[in-house]
Amino acid sequence: MSMRGRPLRSQEWFGAEGRNGFIHRSWMRNQGFADDVFDGRPVIGIATTWSELTPCNAHLGDVAESVKRGVWEAGGLPLVFPAMSLGEPLMRPTTMLYRNLLAMEAEELVRANPLDGVVLLSGCDKTTPGLLMGAASVDLPTLMITGGPMLNGKFRGRDIGSGTDVWRFTEEQRAGRMTAADCAEAEVGMSRSRGHCMTMGTASTMACVTEALGVQLPGAAALPAVDSRRYALAQAAGRRIVAMVEEDQRLSTVLTREAFENAIRVNAAIGGSTNAVVHLLAIAGRLGVPLSLEDFDTLTADVPMLVNLMPSGTYLMEDFAYAGGLPAVMREIASLLHLDHVTVSGKSVADNISGAQCWNREVIGTMEEPFQPAGSGTVVLSGSLAPSGAVLKVSAASAHLLRHTGPALVFDRIEDYVVAADDPDLDVTADTVIVVRNAGPRGYPGFPEVGNVPMPRRLLTDGITDMVRISDARMSGTGYGTCILHVAPEASVGGPLALVRTGDLVRVDVTERRLDLLVDDAELEHRRATWQPPRPAADRGWVRLYSEHVLQADRGADLDFLVGGSGSAPPRHSH
Ligand code: FES
Repeated sequence: MSMRGRPLRSQEWFGAEGRNGFIHRSWMRNQGFADDVFDGRPVIGIATTWSELTPCNAHLGDVAESVKRGVWEAGGLPLVFPAMSLGEPLMRPTTMLYRNLLAMEAEELVRANPLDGVVLLSGCDKTTPGLLMGAASVDLPTLMITGGPMLNGKFRGRDIGSGTDVWRFTEEQRAGRMTAADCAEAEVGMSRSRGHCMTMGTASTMACVTEALGVQLPGAAALPAVDSRRYALAQAAGRRIVAMVEEDQRLSTVLTREAFENAIRVNAAIGGSTNAVVHLLAIAGRLGVPLSLEDFDTLTADVPMLVNLMPSGTYLMEDFAYAGGLPAVMREIASLLHLDHVTVSGKSVADNISGAQCWNREVIGTMEEPFQPAGSGTVVLSGSLAPSGAVLKVSAASAHLLRHTGPALVFDRIEDYVVAADDPDLDVTADTVIVVRNAGPRGYPGFPEVGNVPMPRRLLTDGITDMVRISDARMSGTGYGTCILHVAPEASVGGPLALVRTGDLVRVDVTERRLDLLVDDAELEHRRATWQPPRPAADRGWVRLYSEHVLQADRGADLDFLVGGSGSAPPRHSH
């Protein structure tokens, strides 16, 4: 028996009498549907971020076909629709400038159409949070399927990882240890199949985080994009979303505070991307779930890092899937999770992971023998240089730099630093703290992934591969280094980062969770008096809307007027 206790939303369109009902059904019939498809069965929207300009998502049409199979089978009517696709490799200036635009588009498409439930198809980094943010604001029964990672990259007999090895190879080339021909050979071996980056970068992180939130079916995050089991799961998802409509299992019942706590802990256990912090804050903000930047530190203090994947470790997502994937990790840290939380499978976390096993302890460690100890995930720093916080991924940093004081070398634009980094006479030592600013949410604009700024060539040739780098930017989830990111407030809104000068001493103390500028208050006030805000980035269009309304990193960089849910009331109109 249906647990909804009220008519289907789609029947306000397809069940209507008179002219409106005629219009709603008649035009849809031009697709050749059987006579009875508008008989009151659940209408399932399948939102796809397919695009040939987003190679990570270029196979989502096949995933959609599998979902449709399951929806038909369960007695629903599946309808696929496109949502803005955001591809990391090509889009300029940065896909993050458009995450909120995708979220707005997805929200309005879901609300404006006769849908009872939604399946979200994503893959590349921003497509996952963008779709989920939009769907959260409508709050229909919602299930996500990420497209899965590529197979492991291969180069001269060894595995290579998306992004991580790109950074490594290009640094090697700058240091003269690899030739252009070597890099060209690596280029053709890195991306061997369809799917998203197969390192534990942002796409893999968000796939795992959404599985931990309970909005993906168990096991869905890690299976390679080309694995037939992914398509079987997609079919199961199609069946399940129809049941979710009957049960009225809305997204807000899945995305609870407990779900976010599980996701934050899982993110620490997998060594996930710092970008998960921004995206989870934004998703929680849509639903009014209380979540703060500090939660990412306090909730992970006792979570060891179990997963040995690049960029922090050795292996790749294909190995992770074969080792048992996320269910094996969640079972290992079960004592730290809310096991009663009910997920889109219709079952609790405890039920989802009860049969999970680990098949390779090199890839997934145990609580007793983790890959890295508790506290090596993303930590939150604050202090006079970051009053509203900053983040550092400890597992990607160098241990000797976690407590460090050094002179700042300041750049107002990432472009200026990139030129300077190749200057053989740059006045820099291993103790220098590189500061790059005006690359935050509003400043760039768009909060680009430039926080893992390249090492100065001068140091690389001396064999120095890491130094403290501080910015208001983000870092690619595949990046590494002692990079302090998301400094808030950002420089372009007048945060203290705007007041740092070359030669000032900056102190980092990860144990104390501090990030301080060692300049006295009187001097900072003097500098503030002469500080000028940068000119607006654009006087029209999306960039203007974005720049005027984007929140700081510690609020998830959503737009201020999109925070808080607004429900799924259908538009009232008549022809
Ligand atoms: Fe799309 Fe990495 S470029 S997931």
